[in-house]
Amino acid sequence: MKKDDVVRTGYNKIAAKYNATRGQFRNETELEYFISLLPKEARILDAGCGTGVPVAKFLVDRGYSVTGIDFSTSMLNLARQQVPEAEFLKGDMTKLTFPANSFDGIVSTYAIIHVPKEKHATLYKNFYRVLKPGGVLFFSTGPDEWEATENYMGTTMFWSHPPKETSLALVKKAGFEIIRDEVLKRGGETHYWIFARK
Ligand SMILES: C[S@@+](CC[C@H](N)C(=O)[O-])C[C@H]1O[C@@H](n2cnc3c(N)ncnc32)[C@H](O)[C@@H]1O
Repeated sequence: MKKDDVVRTGYNKIAAKYNATRGQFRNETELEYFISLLPKEARILDAGCGTGVPVAKFLVDRGYSVTGIDFSTSMLNLARQQVPEAEFLKGDMTKLTFPANSFDGIVSTYAIIHVPKEKHATLYKNFYRVLKPGGVLFFSTGPDEWEATENYMGTTMFWSHPPKETSLALVKKAGFEIIRDEVLKRGGETHYWIFARK
């Protein structure tokens, strides 16, 4: 099975289980900082939005216009139920077809860790393209180099990421100016978070 298919099939299988445990990862502090960098009427893309909580929900509750994209139908079904105010589209975030300059902000939490690392440069370039000038990108990836296919919540799952120095270099190479980057432990897991501006 292709790497992407492992991830999509896996999340289709565990969507309800994932949704039930998602609350342990608290990112309110980071999300508050993200929105402090955005204009009032911002249009935001949630890339790899999963089941819509807590991220899309946090943003629509504060009045933002949110579009979520994910390639797992089961995750999207839960997102549409839980956050009816947002728009949810089925698609691959490595192949975004939105016009250039579409969004004021892009958020992607715990999702880029599942994108094969050879696609990360293209992913960040495409995020840059669809953000408006001055737009803000906020995302997590892994802190260390790792690639594996392992059991996760009773299904087979794939992860892939370069070391954080490479992720930072790729984001800069895509054209972004770094606002802040840090390794944070949330919900018992350690991830690398970047805030960057177009
Ligand atoms: C760990 S979940 C995180 C979901 C959500 N962002 C959150 O914070 O709860 C990872 C999500 O990324 C999605 N995903 C992974 N690779 C993707 C891709 N290339 N395109 C679209 N969605 C993807 C998966 O389907 C899954 O819903």
